[in-house]
Amino acid sequence: MEVIIQPNVEQAAELTARLIAARLRAKPDLVLGLATGRTMERVYDRLADTQRSGGLDFSRCRTFNLDEYIGIPAEDEHSYRYYMNHHLFSRVNIDLANTHVPDGMATNLRAEAARYERLIREAGGIDLQLLGIGEAGHIGFNEPLSALMSRTREKALTPVTRQQNAGMFGGDPDKVPKRALTMGVGTILEARELLLLATGAAKASILAKAVEGPITGMISASAIQLHPNCKVIIDSEAARKLKERDYYDWIFQNEPEWQQFRALTSGSTSP
Ligand code: GLP
Repeated sequence: MEVIIQPNVEQAAELTARLIAARLRAKPDLVLGLATGRTMERVYDRLADTQRSGGLDFSRCRTFNLDEYIGIPAEDEHSYRYYMNHHLFSRVNIDLANTHVPDGMATNLRAEAARYERLIREAGGIDLQLLGIGEAGHIGFNEPLSALMSRTREKALTPVTRQQNAGMFGGDPDKVPKRALTMGVGTILEARELLLLATGAAKASILAKAVEGPITGMISASAIQLHPNCKVIIDSEAARKLKERDYYDWIFQNEPEWQQFRALTSGSTSP
């Protein structure tokens, strides 16, 4: 794992977008795993800007989202399908037929979960999986006690998660669905590369546990420690509780793979 600390939230999102853009340029038919949440909005803004300015082509890109609420139709503004169409898909030259979000309205959720796993397999697996982290320590909606080998399935949301996501439901946690369909931790770990983005002081404590604490099903994000190709990009607020900061900074400043991205911290802005 590598942890890259950027001075602020804009630069953390910018670096994340640049990495995604670099992977898509290197492999135009990239299979890209996507995440939702407020943190990702800046990343999708940057990707849309880059595409509009001619610097990126999504026409052959295929996407798989991590999760979807159960019982919310795709056209409802609270669904993750709506979120993705709004924040990214409608703003770039992607073929909507190549975009996948679990169907939270499926009558048979087990069959839908199995179908989703099959689609990922048929696409050849996920090349790059983008991840956020919830305050309950989840990746996707893998709430505490998620098996580290779990696959796409239905999961009940914790009160912490429903409170955290209440902002998108008029501030009322009771309006947040109680259940979601989510890729499992095992599904996520099979992606060839993981890229987790976390920003803000509210994430500092859980982020430190996930990155520097023991691997535990209580904090599904800690499972990223098992992955051989995982990058964590954070801003200085989210980094506040990390112990090995100097080492992480040294990696970013010295390792050759980060060379093309270092200019960012000295003021460059285009992904
Ligand atoms: C939801 C998603 C998670 C995401 C989290 C972070 O819970 N299911 O995949 O990591 O939001 O949300 P935010 O970026 O709003 O903090």
